[in-house]
Amino acid sequence: MAAAATATNRRVILKEYVEGYPREEHMELLPGAEVPLRLAGDEPPGSVLVRNLYLSCDPYMRPKMSRPLWESYTAAFVPGSVITGYGVARVLDSSDPRLAPGDLVWGITGWEDYSVVRPPTTAFLAKISHHGGVPLSYYTGILGMPGLTAYVGFHEICAPKAGEAVFVSAASGAVGQLVGQFARLAGCRVVGSAGSAEKVELLRTRFGFHDAFNYKEEPDLAAALRRCFPEGIDIYFENVGGAMLDAVLLNMRAHGRIAVCGLISQYNLKDGEKDAVRNLSAVVAKRLRLQGFIEPDHKHLYGCTPSTRRGCSPTSATARSPTSRTSPRGSRARPGRSSGSSTGATSASSSSASPTTRKPAPDWIGPVDVPLVHYSVSDFPSMI
Ligand SMILES: NC(=O)c1ccc[n+]([C@@H]2O[C@H](COP(=O)([O-])OP(=O)(O)OC[C@H]3O[C@@H](n4cnc5c(N)ncnc54)[C@H](OP(=O)(O)O)[C@@H]3O)[C@@H](O)[C@H]2O)c1
Repeated sequence: MAAAATATNRRVILKEYVEGYPREEHMELLPGAEVPLRLAGDEPPGSVLVRNLYLSCDPYMRPKMSRPLWESYTAAFVPGSVITGYGVARVLDSSDPRLAPGDLVWGITGWEDYSVVRPPTTAFLAKISHHGGVPLSYYTGILGMPGLTAYVGFHEICAPKAGEAVFVSAASGAVGQLVGQFARLAGCRVVGSAGSAEKVELLRTRFGFHDAFNYKEEPDLAAALRRCFPEGIDIYFENVGGAMLDAVLLNMRAHGRIAVCGLISQYNLKDGEKDAVRNLSAVVAKRLRLQGFIEPDHKHLYGCTPSTRRGCSPTSATARSPTSRTSPRGSRARPGRSSGSSTGATSASSSSASPTTRKPAPDWIGPVDVPLVHYSVSDFPSMI
């Protein structure tokens, strides 16, 4: 048998566990080794060899960079090993009967040119069955993990009703900007917080928020929320935690819901530095429901499981989302360029929602933004 063609495989590894903010020296781009472009005979059945096209840098990856102190839903990275995360890739070789060479997939892959994805991680590879004109990078955003997070978090966990008052923190981020748009589409009044005047402007003018404020310029967060919600908040989509959560608790209405998606303000803090929640008694007094959730628990609802492998491809191209194609954070990022803005990860760890029936794929695709900072593998040389 002819020898398999080979290619150079550059890899980004985590060098050591991170404490505090991640820095460039915590990671390393290893020069490429030659790898065969065919699965080796000893790979386990169900393995898939892919060429990575887009890689995404998401907040949940930050806790995976810390020395694990407790068992999370997602295991910590192993120092010396390639960093893994969501991406878009093309299948080169497959012993998974549902994927064939040439197929496009999105899901968990490696920060490298070529990855062998082995079971059980192949369960996180969803085939992109039809992307008809939609940029593939959207599968790192609205059509990928952040889109599903925003959709299930808002519709399954928050259970919104038209006319309700919704507050979203980290509202210009990949998840938050979509939650705002879903809230608007659901007939709610939605206000977001973000960390710069430019982002606040985007929320107000492009992402359909009724109002927005810059939390960094508010000396009293509780007062800012009172100003935006004189009659209180029905739904809080929690992305940040810390002082914002405490301020929100004071402003919730009776029987309100808080969907805890993430607590990004806490991810880079060391143990002992993390914020305490001081106003938790409001949960009792106001009979609030506060629920953590993680997106993987809900994939089966929308056809993203290995049992269907249909992916979350767009089912409709109707223009329903009042957004632009402008990325609020720029369109390129690279490891080590952590500004403190997106250097944390999901710590929500529970979900009581485990419905068994599949729902139609969400009809959310429109002329939407590419919400995540992403970069192409071709950017790797500039990282050296
Ligand atoms: N539960 C799940 O399944 C799930 C899935 C995906 C994401 N998440 C969580 O959802 C949240 C948002 O994720 P994303 O993908 O939208 O992130 P993203 O696009 O990377 O945006 C994160 C934003 O968070 C804000 N931020 C950073 N540090 C902050 C701090 N100390 N205090 C307040 N805001 C801060 C920054 O915006 P500003 O400039 O406005 O501060 C940043 O742009 C994160 O907590 C993430 O862990 C959860």
